Amino acid sequence: MTTQRTLSIIKPDAVKNDKIGAITMRFEAAGLRVIAAKMEKLTLKQAQDFYAVHKDRPFFNDLVAFICSGPVMIQVLEGPNAILLNRSLMGATDPKQAAAGTIRADFAESIDKNAVHGSDSIETAKQEIAFFFTEAQCFSRA
Ligand code: CMP
Repeated sequence: MTTQRTLSIIKPDAVKNDKIGAITMRFEAAGLRVIAAKMEKLTLKQAQDFYAVHKDRPFFNDLVAFICSGPVMIQVLEGPNAILLNRSLMGATDPKQAAAGTIRADFAESIDKNAVHGSDSIETAKQEIAFFFTEAQCFSRA
């Protein structure tokens, strides 16, 4: 198994509902270590840049408004097959489609307020981690 890193964002809905601990426990229980973390309220510019890949999608404005609506918990997770593992822990983007027992099935209320973001590929993970953290801010225990 390849050790990988992935970026996780616990979104404003889950932070507001006091689910930082419950969600992080799921990461750790599955073998994903938190190797960097910070809590921030994103600026509009940060959100637009972070989600630039979606800039032509009809939901873009709502997406950036929501991610800026309150503080988020940003984490780098490291562990075996971290990118896919995190995506399976999160469940489908739309919580109505998310498998039982996944983070989105348990903590999300809609496709917009869907509790967590996770990188979707090796390349995206690299870019998203570098967007928020330097290598010196990542404390690998691999
Ligand atoms: P996230 O994994 O953060 O990536 C982009 C976000 O856009 C996604 O989670 C959803 O919260 C949001 N979104 C809203 N509508 C859609 C849609 N139709 N398809 C994909 N993502 C959507």
